[in-house]
This record gives sequence, C-alpha cells and structure tokens, in this order.
Amino acid sequence: MALMKGTESSARYFDEVAGEWDTLRKGYFRDEVREKALDLARVRPGERAADIGAGTGFLTEALLGRGLEVVAVDRSSAMLAELERKFGRRPGFRGLGGDTEALPIETGTIDCCFANMVLHHVENPPKLVGEFFRVLKPGGRAVLTDFEQHGFDFFLTEYYDRWPGFHPAEVAAMFRAAGFPSVEEGSLGEVCQAESSEGARAIVPIFFVRAAR
Ligand SMILES: C[S@@+](CC[C@H](N)C(=O)[O-])C[C@H]1O[C@@H](n2cnc3c(N)ncnc32)[C@H](O)[C@@H]1O
Repeated sequence: MALMKGTESSARYFDEVAGEWDTLRKGYFRDEVREKALDLARVRPGERAADIGAGTGFLTEALLGRGLEVVAVDRSSAMLAELERKFGRRPGFRGLGGDTEALPIETGTIDCCFANMVLHHVENPPKLVGEFFRVLKPGGRAVLTDFEQHGFDFFLTEYYDRWPGFHPAEVAAMFRAAGFPSVEEGSLGEVCQAESSEGARAIVPIFFVRAAR
C-alpha cells in the first residue's frame, strides 16, 4: 500500500474511530474542558454557535444544553453520521460537512465559535483562524482550545496529528493577524493524556485562546 499523505491518513483515522470517539475521548481529556471553554466565551441562551471540527459533538452537546443553536462542522462523514444520530432531532442543531479552510457558514452570522483539539490536525492553522473571523458577527467571540507544544512523536505517527501542539502565544498571534482586536491566551488548567502502543505515557497541558471580533 502506498504511504498515505498526512491529511488523507488523518481523515481516514477519524472515519475509523468515529463510532468509539466518545469512549476514547474520555480517556484523553475531561468534560471540564468544554465547560471551561463555554465559560470563557460567556455563552448565552439563544445565541448561534459554531463547533468546528465537532467530531461526535463534545462541545455541541454542552452548547445545546445551555440553550444555544449550534452549527457543527466536520470533514469526516462518519463523525457527521454520529452527530446526526445523537443530535439530529434536537431543535437548533445543524450538522454540516466541510473543511476548516473554507467553512460552509455564511459570513457574519455566528455569535461564538469554538474548535477543541482541532488545530493540531489542520494543514493550515491560520486559515482556520481566518475563517473564525469571517463567520463571526461584529462583537462575536472565539475560543480555541488545544494542547501545548510537546515532544511525543507517537501523537504524529499513531494519531496522525499534523502538528506537535503549539505555543499559546503563537496561536494568539494568528488571531491578531486575522484581525481580531482583542486576544488573550492562557492555560485551561486541564491536560490531554495518551499512551503509545509501546506504553509511553504523555500528559500535555491544554491552552486556550479567547478572542473578540
Ligand atoms: C481530535 S477530534 C476532536 C473532536 C471534538 N472537537 C472533540 O473535542 O471531541 C478532531 C476532529 O476534527 C476533524 N477535522 C480534522 N481536520 C479537519 C479539517 N481540516 N476540516 C474539518 N474537520 C477536521 C476530524 O474529523 C475530527 O472529528
């Protein structure tokens, strides 16, 4: 078999694990991650949120629970099928196939935008941030959560990550370059944990970037 390109292998990986992502995810990071992300965005009932790289709806579930409408975007058809199965009948939910480089969302229509554990998978991180800026209404808020830069090669070889995490300041700079006038970064006070097939254990801090349009 020819070696798969990075994006291709990552896409296939997520199609394969979609049915068990909820269980796997619980081993990687705690539910507190989403509560902290939503608190940072100061979400309010009735607002329209976008969950980008939504997976099986870790953030979507909490956003719907707090009374927001949610547009959930993912490029994996298997993840979208899981989203539809779990939330398809919930009022205010919409699942859409699409890529972070060109979101299938109209310009200036979203109150708050989220991406949890997605940036380290995308080919072009600044494009994702630029799309956040485009789809947000004036005054809209973005909260991005991901793990800090690390040296665990198995994240790239076994989980098909594109990037070995990020320095929070580097991601904050992408938000400023995209045009966000107000940007803040910090530690979320949570970690991502994983174990390699050979038993190496990684514990990596999670950071946030919060920005207002
Ligand atoms: C690590 S999972 C995180 C899922 C979810 N946000 C969570 O916290 O459980 C990353 C998700 O991003 C999606 N993804 C990766 N690259 C993407 C891209 N370029 N465009 C859209 N979705 C992408 C994957 O299909 C996968 O569902």
